[in-house]
Amino acid sequence: MKQSRIVGTGMYVPDHIVTNHDLEKMMDTSDEWIQQRTGIVERRWITEECGASDLGEKAARQALDMAGWQPEDVDFIIFATLSPDIMFPGSGCLMAAKLGLDKTPALDIRQQCTGFLYGLATADAYIKAGLARKILFVGGEVHSSGLDKTSRGRDVSVIFGDGAGAVCLEAVETDQAVGVRSCHLHADGNIAPLLMTELPASRLLNRIPPELDRNDPRFFPFMDGQAVFKKAVRLLPKVTKDALAEAEIALDDVELFIPHQANKRINQAYGQFLRVAEDKVFHNIEKYGNTTAASIPIALYEAMEQGKIGEPGQNVVFAALGAGLTWGAIVYTFW
Ligand code: ACO
Repeated sequence: MKQSRIVGTGMYVPDHIVTNHDLEKMMDTSDEWIQQRTGIVERRWITEECGASDLGEKAARQALDMAGWQPEDVDFIIFATLSPDIMFPGSGCLMAAKLGLDKTPALDIRQQCTGFLYGLATADAYIKAGLARKILFVGGEVHSSGLDKTSRGRDVSVIFGDGAGAVCLEAVETDQAVGVRSCHLHADGNIAPLLMTELPASRLLNRIPPELDRNDPRFFPFMDGQAVFKKAVRLLPKVTKDALAEAEIALDDVELFIPHQANKRINQAYGQFLRVAEDKVFHNIEKYGNTTAASIPIALYEAMEQGKIGEPGQNVVFAALGAGLTWGAIVYTFW
């Protein structure tokens, strides 16, 4: 049977560090509030025009190097983002061109903070179905160009950072219980208004209504933070347990939990609900903020770099919740 094996990981964040103190100069906020409520100390924001595909290309090249692949070896590309370079075509096509490719299929995934899970599940399905052998999967975001950096947008703007993470997945024949062991994905569009950016909107007769001011709040992300927080602390432990039960893996046999980095308090509560030791739940939100589809692949890269995971037989759980509302968990066994 074909299984997906992670053979390369990479990450890229812009050099420019924006600290909480820098944000204090732009809006009515404080380092104390941001650290207490989110755990974030700093994030990276771009300083010159570039899109998610540019950050993605850099992360991709690092993952390709680790895998020992040339871009031409890749037979399928998946790109997860909520901040595509342009409305269409997708950032996957744009990144493929930057990698020097001109015919490799490229698929964009628009599942926000759960983008890594939907992308990994799709990649694994392609591999198991024999449709692809070498998949390059990238999560990349440029949030900073679309944030309301005034006090009006402070509840959302202090959270988001720019960055990209990449994974190379290879099809390998094996009878062992390894690779992606279970995927549990969910979506509930009934509560989409809890977290969304409304404009530009094709449902309107004028996609960008002519009477609109460019500072209309509908151009910027809106989030009912408390409602999303409550959903996250309830749904993430539940979906993690469901995914582990299907994989027949006990909580104690998980080497590391890598949740999406949206809020350190959410991830602390996640660990407490699961009753696992604090050091079993990975976090790096203090350095990068919420990089949405990029956050889990960046965390995966750093966790492997730090030697926390990657040894054969080690189990890792990826879990995320975000706009949609979408949420899920995937169990992966290294080999
Ligand atoms: N600085 C200072 N004060 C602020 C800021 C800020 N940046 N933002 C909000 N406040 C104020 C509010 O106005 C409010 O003031 P009031 O009490 O006078 O009305 C007070 O702080 C508390 O606001 P809350 O919204 O209740 O703060 P909360 O503790 O809920 O933290 C946060 C807000 C960090 C957004 C939290 O709710 C959260 O993390 N929610 C979940 C985020 C998430 O998981 N999103 C999903 C992924 S993102 C994606 O998919 C795109």
